[in-house]
Amino acid sequence: MLDKRVCVVGVGYVGLPCALMLAKSGCKVVGYDLNDDKIRLLNEGHVDDELQELYNLSEVRENFTATMQLPRADVFIIAVPTPILQDRKVAELSALADAVTQVAEVLEKGNLIIVESTVPPMTMRNLVIPIIEKKGLDAAKDVYLAHCPERLLPGNVVYEITYNNRIVGGYTKESAELAARVYQCFVQGEISLTDDVTAEMCKLMENTYRDVNIALANELSEVCETVGVNTNEAIELANRHPRVNLLKPGIGVGGHCLPIDPWFIHEVSPYNSTLINAARHINDGRPARVTDRICKILSQDISQKFAILGKTYKEETTDTRESPAGEVFQRLKDAGYHVVAYDSEVDKDTSLAEAVFGCRYLFVLVRHRKMMQELEEYEAAEKNKGNEVNILYF
Ligand SMILES: NC(=O)c1ccc[n+]([C@@H]2O[C@H](COP(=O)([O-])OP(=O)(O)OC[C@H]3O[C@@H](n4cnc5c(N)ncnc54)[C@H](O)[C@@H]3O)[C@@H](O)[C@H]2O)c1
Repeated sequence: MLDKRVCVVGVGYVGLPCALMLAKSGCKVVGYDLNDDKIRLLNEGHVDDELQELYNLSEVRENFTATMQLPRADVFIIAVPTPILQDRKVAELSALADAVTQVAEVLEKGNLIIVESTVPPMTMRNLVIPIIEKKGLDAAKDVYLAHCPERLLPGNVVYEITYNNRIVGGYTKESAELAARVYQCFVQGEISLTDDVTAEMCKLMENTYRDVNIALANELSEVCETVGVNTNEAIELANRHPRVNLLKPGIGVGGHCLPIDPWFIHEVSPYNSTLINAARHINDGRPARVTDRICKILSQDISQKFAILGKTYKEETTDTRESPAGEVFQRLKDAGYHVVAYDSEVDKDTSLAEAVFGCRYLFVLVRHRKMMQELEEYEAAEKNKGNEVNILYF
């Protein structure tokens, strides 16, 4: 595999670490992206903090280049966004269709295309293959096609991309085997081979499992509240059952995967996915309920300045996409409250103490380690000054 030219199409959260890991292992890798800022920053050596060490390795610098010109290559790895159409809750696959169309322009017999983007089941067969075959190539004989979903967790990217198990779904057996050789360059987890549709479905099932279990915890916490039971205590006690493992309730589900992927299952089989549908609505409804609780605590005192701590969709990431904390903030702002927001991972140029100046209430929605440390120091300092601060954790 080391003699192959690899092109990663879309060097975002998923594509860039994959490109850098392949470069580290000795492959010649070109990162191609439509975003000129991203390409310029990459070529100037700027990447996310957690990738900087990897990017600085001499073998990565030597083997990786970033460009806005799609090159010819032996292997194309596509990692472009696949969001959802919010009004219809179905996949918006135009970026993937564009990327495949562009790749098809330079595609040659014997090339391998790997789709890493998360997609509804049958996308390889209904969208990718027709575009390739329109170019006169036989998808089963002339080229190799595979779907290899990504499972990495922002905040722990380098570890997870190396040690997570991977699923490699080939359109043909030969495609799966060839794609597996690409991942063998840097993956130390188990690599399981299957067909493309099973791989598409697996990725969605994983995130749906998480979403439904979070919804269950959230729903139970609402019920506990109505009957005056402490949710955390009840969950802790219930989990002492040898076959029960309830998750913790939270402020909602965010990011680029969990709030979106279950809909990709629902869109292909709505009649069979009523539980999945209900779970999505429960989790989507959480920020509104959290907002109501905050309003109650503030007793509708609109003029009082207070702070929300957390903007990202989860701990230890800079990613604010589909963030429940962001939604809570927006709802409070829209309702006319005097609310400020701070996030240690997003607001690098300011401190917690500066951001929450003059706030008597601080509502903690995301618990980054650094922010919790800052909060502890702030609380101690305010106590020393004799100031009252109310800190509430969600
Ligand atoms: N972020 C995650 O944690 C995560 C985890 C697993 C799977 N995924 C999936 O991976 C895919 C990519 O997600 P991401 O978070 O990396 O997105 P991203 O927005 O961070 O990166 C995507 C990149 O693709 C580029 N792009 C868009 N259209 C293009 C085109 N036609 N040609 C070239 N570049 C193009 C964008 O400019 C962007 O830089 C999605 O399907 C997502 O669901 C994401």
